[in-house]
Amino acid sequence: MSARSQPEPGRVILGCATNRHWLPNALAHLDEVLVDHAHCEKKAAANALSLLQAYPEVPGMPAQMARLAREESSHLARVLQLLEQRGLALGRDPGDPYAQALQGLVRTPAAQRQLDRFLVAAIIEARSCERLALLANGLPDLDLRRFYGELARSEHGHQRLFLRLASSVHGEAVEPRLRQLLTSEAELVRRLPVRAAIH
Ligand SMILES: [Fe+2]
Ligand SMILES: [Fe+2]
Repeated sequence: MSARSQPEPGRVILGCATNRHWLPNALAHLDEVLVDHAHCEKKAAANALSLLQAYPEVPGMPAQMARLAREESSHLARVLQLLEQRGLALGRDPGDPYAQALQGLVRTPAAQRQLDRFLVAAIIEARSCERLALLANGLPDLDLRRFYGELARSEHGHQRLFLRLASSVHGEAVEPRLRQLLTSEAELVRRLPVRAAIH
């Protein structure tokens, strides 16, 4: 496979669009979505630090993951502020069946595991970006629209970051594995019930 067939970091990588019932349901249960969103940002920050811990030898990785953890933590702080304004409590994380199913696709051998962790992170960022953009366009409140628009752009940048990292270490192995994982992700998204949650 030539270098030209590497996934282009800027393109939208998802294999299917979100179910059309997701947005009306999210708008009708916005409080639940906001609480879930806070948990998502918390897990994104934790995953960045976990990747830094696991792969300090990847060139540029520690600094990039440190910056990512800081950015996701700032998203978390801002969503927590929204919860506070609405009198909502964060509560315990009930878990995210979507992310858990994707993590279950990560293979065990070290090199494959690293590639899969980068690609699963890229896919979760891509799906989050899509959903946050739906909120940005669908919410009635102008400030919230702006907030979600900004976050959608940020998550798009994170998708690109993980694809770049994957390509820099794994080269031609990226494209076929990304295609497999995107096919699985599309099946998963079609199979899971629509929830008042980011995923
Ligand atoms: Fe984020
Ligand atoms: Fe992100």
